[in-house]
Amino acid sequence: MKVQFTETVLRDANQSLIATRLPYKEFEGILETMDRAGYYSLECWGGATFDSCLRYLDEDPWERLRKIREKCPNTKLQMLLRGQNLLGYKHYPDDVVRKFVQKSVQNGIDIIRIFDALNDVRNIEVAVDETLKNGAIASGAISYTKSPIHNLEAYVKLAKEMESLGCQTICIKDMAGIMGPQEAYDTVKALKENVKVPIVLHTHSTTGLGMLTLQKAVEAGCDVIDTAISSFSGGTSQVPTETMAYALKQEGYDVALDMDVLREINDFFKPIKAKYLENGQLNPVVLSTDTDALNYQVPGGMLSNLVAQLTAQNKMDKFEEVLAETPRVRKDLGYPPLVTPMSQMVGVQATTNVLLGERYKNISKEVKAYIRGEYGRAPGEIDKDLQKKVLGDEAPMTCRFADTLEPGFEKAKKEIGALAKSDEDVLSYIAFPAQAEAFLKEREEKKHNTFSYAITKVE
Ligand code: CO
Repeated sequence: MKVQFTETVLRDANQSLIATRLPYKEFEGILETMDRAGYYSLECWGGATFDSCLRYLDEDPWERLRKIREKCPNTKLQMLLRGQNLLGYKHYPDDVVRKFVQKSVQNGIDIIRIFDALNDVRNIEVAVDETLKNGAIASGAISYTKSPIHNLEAYVKLAKEMESLGCQTICIKDMAGIMGPQEAYDTVKALKENVKVPIVLHTHSTTGLGMLTLQKAVEAGCDVIDTAISSFSGGTSQVPTETMAYALKQEGYDVALDMDVLREINDFFKPIKAKYLENGQLNPVVLSTDTDALNYQVPGGMLSNLVAQLTAQNKMDKFEEVLAETPRVRKDLGYPPLVTPMSQMVGVQATTNVLLGERYKNISKEVKAYIRGEYGRAPGEIDKDLQKKVLGDEAPMTCRFADTLEPGFEKAKKEIGALAKSDEDVLSYIAFPAQAEAFLKEREEKKHNTFSYAITKVE
């Protein structure tokens, strides 16, 4: 049986270990080698890479993509997209989503992995449709979580819906690394029995379950697994590519990866890792195993947020109480997956409930918007009393939030004006207005400087 690999070093590993601070020039020298490794795909764009390029790295994200494409003509390039939220957390109108997908494909993307934090398929529909129209591969991603309503039946139903939208692969996306090996086996097996398209598993090493989870997923027939080259693997990142390839080959699986090429890639990234460890951008803590998420059933990132919040208010003595309140708030909200931004919303509400000594005395505007239905459909039922408290007699929104939005591309194009030289620039501006505007302004100034320099030289 064949098992294929998606390499995450350029996106998720980069994002999870060093806050997406890897500049293009740092990995340019290994791209042609990576193109020969035999990966199913290179996850290299989307997620936080776009924001980071504009905000910290003084790079045009679109140009980065085009350069990677040029150096890797043979490997599929993959990006992560948050459905109707694109790369952020607010909902964009459909014309913007379509334009973003279209330009992503035109600039070099082959596979778009599309997910919604609430698993509301209406929020991925438009992005999937546009991906297919542009001839790229749409991978529908299920935000994996645990709750009484998130059972095999629910995941199978979701996968079938994604398949009927036209998704060519289904990814189980365990963002918090909380999926155990038996759960992976059962979920993959159920999906393989009920959908025809290939199944992909994405997990993290955070809790130490990663390799066992991938192993059992493969035994259940998982077609593609996400891994990171070993020097950028482990902890909050993915499991090591070479280790999984070595083990699966030994077990008789058909693995197309070239081990010598993988060694070259790893040798390239080793000194980069050493440099980031030394300059402090890579904190050794994120490389270690943290089983707290298993004990408390909340993701590691959410736990550290809770600790930070309570420490700031000098209320760490309430930690156990807040931990007990967290699943109750989650239940009241209809069991949303604890991923950004829901993890923060649930955490803050649980903290408020405990610190004020009265449940829902204060309700954040985000939680109110969620209850109104502005984030999408809640996975389960929202507590009736809480709903009434927020909505009164008003009914929750039944349509997609994006249906209430005016088209946005042309308006943004006018707004940013001459600073934007292309539709790609306009999309950067729509996605991250302040960062993109600053970036485009600086680019303009640099151009003028070069120009005056040229004149000086002639004189
Ligand atoms: Co991830």
